[in-house]
Amino acid sequence: MASLRSSSQPISQTLQIYLKSFDQQHDSLLSPTRNVSFYRHGIPSFRCTVVRISNQAQALIDSIQVSEVPVLSCEEVIKRLRLSRERYKDKQEFPAMYSSVFGGITTDPAAMVIPMDDHMVHRGHGVFDTALIMDGHLYELDEHLDRFLRSASVAKINLPFDRERMRNILIQTVSTSKCREGCLRYWLSSGPGDFLLSPSGCSQSALYAIVIKYLYSSDYSGIKVVTSSIPIKPPMFATMKSINYLPNVLCQMEAEERGCFASIWLDSDGFVAEGPNMNVAFVTKEKELLMPKFDKILSGCTAKRVLALSEELVKKGEIKGVCVRDVTVEEGKRADEMMLLGGGVLVRPVIQWDDQVIGNGKEGPVAQALLNLILEDMKSGPPTVRVPVPY
Ligand SMILES: Cc1ncc(COP(=O)(O)O)c(C=O)c1O
Repeated sequence: MASLRSSSQPISQTLQIYLKSFDQQHDSLLSPTRNVSFYRHGIPSFRCTVVRISNQAQALIDSIQVSEVPVLSCEEVIKRLRLSRERYKDKQEFPAMYSSVFGGITTDPAAMVIPMDDHMVHRGHGVFDTALIMDGHLYELDEHLDRFLRSASVAKINLPFDRERMRNILIQTVSTSKCREGCLRYWLSSGPGDFLLSPSGCSQSALYAIVIKYLYSSDYSGIKVVTSSIPIKPPMFATMKSINYLPNVLCQMEAEERGCFASIWLDSDGFVAEGPNMNVAFVTKEKELLMPKFDKILSGCTAKRVLALSEELVKKGEIKGVCVRDVTVEEGKRADEMMLLGGGVLVRPVIQWDDQVIGNGKEGPVAQALLNLILEDMKSGPPTVRVPVPY
């Protein structure tokens, strides 16, 4: 039975409850006897000796803050990394990762780490991209890879391998993961070196890739958006996919704080730009599919594919035409339909923007038709957009 001897000071109620519910699955992962101090608000609260400890209790102790900072061997670090992964493995699964630093693929989430001295970590000198995995195929891998290489070129990051080798590595990483539904994320960085600003001390650029397993959400209900008060990135940075996503994170947080799904950026001239990780499109009163130009925002692979697929709706007479140009806020807010487009959302109808209800306040038919086209394309589109993964 797990036990814990404490000094005379009272233990916090949470801890007491926790310790009472100690299960029988104690492990000897940590040394059987250990002195720990607990801090509350930075003040030592009590000291105790942990005789035996379960994973759950360890998690709690770590979250409270242990005063003694242990010096760990590599093996101990790996053990602890594995333990920390255990704690949130239900949230996301990472079945495979590639790193050019160790020159291979690992399936052990504890080993999925990147060096602290990598310039991407401490200076933000890196670019990234994604590709969805659907039915054992990588969707629009080549489009994403092209954008990835364009971003790397703007960021002046040399490629560690040629495009074909990178492509093969990405496909092999997915193959090793055995994941058939989820997404692949990959980064190019100026690589490990030193902690200076210039990357001249980095001997070799680095490629990292990770597979994230999840089931796609089937929630395509209409959502609300707000205009972002966070400044949009200047065009040079907005048109590339660098890892500098702080404005995007703050833009997303702002939406969540205001009870909305996403925030919408306006560009420096006040025209509709994009969301933090999605593009926007409208259906005008004249039944035209309208999208903002891509010269100051990210050229979304989903948006581009939607533009191509929407020709089918033109042929069927469901829309009159397709247009990419500057869009004013007023025009956007009085559109019949508004939608968000991106790898994460696919096509998501917007039913309210700030205080303005869009159209009749319901999900529109064009957004629904475009969603169906994209889903169909992901499942059975041409080989140019579906790269089979040889498992
Ligand atoms: C800023 C931004 N705009 C648009 C998009 C949509 O791009 P895609 O359709 O390629 O996912 C993303 C994707 O992450 C993004 O980060």
